Amino acid sequence: MPQTRTALIIGASRGIGLGLVKTLHDKGWNVIATVRTENPEGPQAFSGVEVHSLDITHQSAVKSFAEQMQNQDLDLLFVCAGITGPQHQSATNADDQEILEVFKTNAIAPLSIAQQLSSCLNEGAVLAFMSSIMGSTEGNENGGMDLYRASKAALNSMVRSYAAKLSGRNISVLALHPGWVKTAMGGDQAPVTVSESAEGLVAQIEKRLDKGEHKFLDYQGQSIPW
Ligand SMILES: NC(=O)c1ccc[n+]([C@@H]2O[C@H](COP(=O)([O-])OP(=O)(O)OC[C@H]3O[C@@H](n4cnc5c(N)ncnc54)[C@H](OP(=O)(O)O)[C@@H]3O)[C@@H](O)[C@H]2O)c1
Repeated sequence: MPQTRTALIIGASRGIGLGLVKTLHDKGWNVIATVRTENPEGPQAFSGVEVHSLDITHQSAVKSFAEQMQNQDLDLLFVCAGITGPQHQSATNADDQEILEVFKTNAIAPLSIAQQLSSCLNEGAVLAFMSSIMGSTEGNENGGMDLYRASKAALNSMVRSYAAKLSGRNISVLALHPGWVKTAMGGDQAPVTVSESAEGLVAQIEKRLDKGEHKFLDYQGQSIPW
């Protein structure tokens, strides 16, 4: 019988993170999930899913979570947590707290937690980060959502640096765009459902197990320019 694979999803209280937990659980993966805010319909609703409480911007909490996980073998680590940032999205109007929050949550904290959990990754594993097509520097022809875009471009840069460091190991490092998805962030007009996005993302991940690839892809497998 094939060995059950194990995934850790960071930022799974709701939205696409919760969709990833459901999809992986339905496919027979062993799933560990973190939530910042408890949601009665969150990942604990799926039998066997182990849930931890974690705010990825709290450095001491991340450190102790990584220590707790140190003997865990992972085939997938997916850092999904993210925020839009202030509604004005303006470099001129942004105060220090807003700048810190959006760049720390979307770019710095995801890499910090991934680096602290890297010893848990099995050979052949996938390390995935939830980026956005808006993080594509080359693809930015129309602007808009300036701070969010910049934070996801910063995430992509951090992901590339870390992929270079991991190049001696057989680990796929992916920056993923989930589509425009109907969540609190994506809004009601979004054309893609959470389950369509999560199923697509998991299909892309499963294709990259044991491949050691480094790519920026959408949930349907299309490459996106960095
Ligand atoms: N929806 C889209 O169309 C779309 C498109 C491109 C990329 N994305 C990206 O996809 C990811 C998920 O987005 P979504 O649409 O599912 O958004 P969402 O419904 O707003 O969910 C965001 C998730 O991130 C968690 N989170 C935020 N800050 C956190 C922190 N400091 N520590 C831990 N968890 C934190 C939230 O936890 P709480 O419940 O505690 O707030 C929530 O679980 C984000 O990275 C987003 O940028 C979304």
